[in-house]
Amino acid sequence: MFEEATVYSPVIRQDSGTVSVVFAEEHPGAQDPDYQRHRAVIAELALNYRVGEPVPEVQYTAAEIELWGMVVADLQAKHRRYASAEFLDGSRRLALPTDRLPQLREVSDRVRALTGFHFTPAAGIVGLADFYGSLADGRFQATQYIRHSSLPRFSPEPDMVHEVVGHGNALANQRLAALYRRVGQAARRASGTEALEALSQVFWFTMEYGLVREDGVPKAYGASLLSSVGELEQFRTAVEVRPLDLPAMLHQAYSVEDFQPVLFCAESFDELEAFYAAFLPSIEAGEPALIRA
Ligand SMILES: [Fe+2]
Repeated sequence: MFEEATVYSPVIRQDSGTVSVVFAEEHPGAQDPDYQRHRAVIAELALNYRVGEPVPEVQYTAAEIELWGMVVADLQAKHRRYASAEFLDGSRRLALPTDRLPQLREVSDRVRALTGFHFTPAAGIVGLADFYGSLADGRFQATQYIRHSSLPRFSPEPDMVHEVVGHGNALANQRLAALYRRVGQAARRASGTEALEALSQVFWFTMEYGLVREDGVPKAYGASLLSSVGELEQFRTAVEVRPLDLPAMLHQAYSVEDFQPVLFCAESFDELEAFYAAFLPSIEAGEPALIRA
């Protein structure tokens, strides 16, 4: 997901045509030239991609396949305890493998058959209007690289684990997919940066970090929570959980590099849908007073 843009490793295509990825000093792959070369190859595939083409295949390393299996199996075990019913429904339908690392194309085809959503590759930062707008077409722009093996439990960058385990499982559920698509339609109709930023802020606290109460217990449906072993261990005990509250959500600061200090919990999935049904028309109408209420 693309609000994480501030911690994205920028992708550069030089005049010579060479593609490189720029890693910050603190990035876990900063001292790993093999990883950096691999990331550049994957980034170039995405840069060369045009909508409508088949999703390109990535040659994953044995270490990446092993990392995927380990992290995804760990996450799936935690999902059984901490994920919401809608997310678990998507997860059952999508049935991601852990004994191999699926290509994004395979996952995309499967999700498309389930809910009409599909994936296309993204090299790095995608603008808000482009990223959210493409959801209206049932298109989710996703990275194809895997987090660095030295930090398997949390990735500040949105890698394949985040995109496929977090968003893919959500997009395999009809109710969640319908909400993603509705967000996309609002983004298409929105005018102005302020409206898109408000939409992005609400998306962050719902589709990335959202909770919904089931039998009195907060369960996760947000993709960032459900794709991070560390976040899933943290959210039950150490964060402040608030009810859905648009003004509070719009003014709540968040961290892309650490665990979230505040999460928002819907009382039911019906309440989440009603929340979006009330909020999105204000984005489409470009009502700053309402957006910043
Ligand atoms: Fe995301």
